Amino acid sequence: MSENYYKEITTDPPSELEISLRPASFVDFLGQKKVKDRLLLMVEAALRRGEALGHVLLCGPPGLGKTTLSNLLATAMGSHIHTISGPQIEKAGDLAGILTSLEEKDVLFIDEIHRLHAKIEEYLYPAMEDFSLDIMIDQGPAAKTVRIDLPPFTLVGATTRAGMLTAPLRSRFGVTNRLDYYATPELSRIILRSSQILRVDIDDAGSMEIASRSRGTPRVANTLLRWVRDYAEVKADGRITSEVAIAALTMIEIDEDGLDEMDKRILESVIYKFDGGPVGIGTIAVSVGEEEGTLEDVYEPYLIMQGFLKRTPRGRVAMPSAYAKFGLSAPTGRDTQQELL
Ligand SMILES: Nc1ncnc2c1ncn2[C@@H]1O[C@H](COP(=O)(O)OP(=O)(O)OP(=O)(O)O)[C@@H](O)[C@H]1O
Ligand SMILES: [Mg+2]
Repeated sequence: MSENYYKEITTDPPSELEISLRPASFVDFLGQKKVKDRLLLMVEAALRRGEALGHVLLCGPPGLGKTTLSNLLATAMGSHIHTISGPQIEKAGDLAGILTSLEEKDVLFIDEIHRLHAKIEEYLYPAMEDFSLDIMIDQGPAAKTVRIDLPPFTLVGATTRAGMLTAPLRSRFGVTNRLDYYATPELSRIILRSSQILRVDIDDAGSMEIASRSRGTPRVANTLLRWVRDYAEVKADGRITSEVAIAALTMIEIDEDGLDEMDKRILESVIYKFDGGPVGIGTIAVSVGEEEGTLEDVYEPYLIMQGFLKRTPRGRVAMPSAYAKFGLSAPTGRDTQQELL
């Protein structure tokens, strides 16, 4: 089990457990009220008009529910979902094959849409706007384009990096739906729901304890729940209380803020090796032995949201709460806010 096994961005098929815990209806999809309300409104309008749902863009860190929401949209529309990941579409022909296999009102879910090849993106524009596809046949003087009409369909794009989406692609989606980290009480409700499905005996305090250490992320909450369940069965009487949850999570070095070994290594590196920053993300990546993209997608957003790290034009800066985590006080004579200017 790799140390960040529960946070990895993966396009592998979801595990059986992940599927069993995945909400099957919007009612079970807890939290994210703003996004949910908007999507439900779009669905209702589309159903009333008898049209395909408008294209939807979902952004946010891994494990917050993008794939789940896209499946829920298809279910709510009573249509099928076809799932593919951006980099998997290599040639225009691949895209043509996918698009022509869609039925009216189907959902095409493109995960990691920011990693679509530029050439493919261009083919996608008319497909999204006019439901047509202009395909080039042959090359050189014999080349000609053929227009293929497509059934009205819905493109649902998901990305962990909204910033990496090209402006033309982004503008072809209506509103951008940004998923935020979940609040602890919401995560606690998700944990209680998962516990019912997994038939785990848990009390409210135990659930809140796991929730508060889940980095605002349902996937993390579910994975931690599984670990704490194992711990409770072996080391306690099977019931998850707050004491059991704390002991179980301490054993895998997840602290009260939900930070794990890698998070702490990142903060330590900025503080000790780079004098608190500012230091570039690439340098931090080399120093902690992790990929730059993973740091940016997975670790950094949470550390920034929690106020441990700050992103400045000159690099990342450790904030006073990061120093406090290691029993240090932030250096005086240097105003961290100044770094932002
Ligand atoms: N709002 C929610 N309520 C209940 N469970 C949720 C919710 N959001 C996500 N989950 C749970 O978290 C798991 C991860 O969600 P999902 O796969 O949709 O995340 P994702 O945003 O697509 O992540 P990635 O970027 O890694 O693909 C799901 O299997 C589901 O069980
Ligand atoms: Mg996903």
